[in-house]
Amino acid sequence: MNREDARCPADGHGEDAPGSGTPAHPGPAVTLRPVDATIRSAVLALAVRSEQASFVATPDTYLRMCDTGGVWQPLAVLEGDRVVGFLMWGVDEDDDSCWLGGFIVDAAHQGRGLGRAAVLAALELLVEQGSKAGFALSYEAENVTAAGLYTSLGFVPTGERVDDEVVARRPPSGRGA
Ligand SMILES: CC(C)(COP(=O)(O)OP(=O)(O)OC[C@H]1O[C@@H](n2cnc3c(N)ncnc32)[C@H](O)[C@@H]1OP(=O)(O)O)[C@@H](O)C(=O)NCCC(=O)NCCS
Repeated sequence: MNREDARCPADGHGEDAPGSGTPAHPGPAVTLRPVDATIRSAVLALAVRSEQASFVATPDTYLRMCDTGGVWQPLAVLEGDRVVGFLMWGVDEDDDSCWLGGFIVDAAHQGRGLGRAAVLAALELLVEQGSKAGFALSYEAENVTAAGLYTSLGFVPTGERVDDEVVARRPPSGRGA
């Protein structure tokens, strides 16, 4: 995978779309669902706070990337029947790491633990994809909320940068961190 494309809103390489997954840990219950026609409009309606807009692209941009690239796989984050967020994943064909990107929790639903629950659910759902080389993601250095969340979940900045974003990686289970 072209590292220049590997930033939070950009590129990876995915194969099988996952099914849905429900995490078995404390915090709000979320499910992750592949984005199909029934929930696409709800995903498109997701919005972050104005001061967060520079950290991410729009849902429309992310869904287009998933539609056209053959690389990223889109997942909606649901709390009950309500779509509250979005993320996408793809495996880097260069090193087999499983990238998470395009992560959004709707502004109206932030600060309730949904973001943490969504990342945990993704790690659980995508455990097979992350089993070889672990998980990776990137974020703007100024995005202290994202940095704190990812660090608390075992992602460690590596010193790599992608499109000027900090790259953090989480080794596969059993290999530390
Ligand atoms: C990053 C984001 C997905 C987190 O979603 P969330 O549902 O608000 O997150 P949570 O409620 O699970 O909180 C996760 C952690 O973020 C931190 N956090 C949450 N809201 C915060 C706030 N307003 N200020 C500072 N830190 C905050 C807390 O440290 C929290 O950790 P804790 O559970 O130990 O308290 C959300 O803020 C968002 O969509 N931001 C805009 C888009 C973005 O930056 N995406 C990431 C791109 S890499």
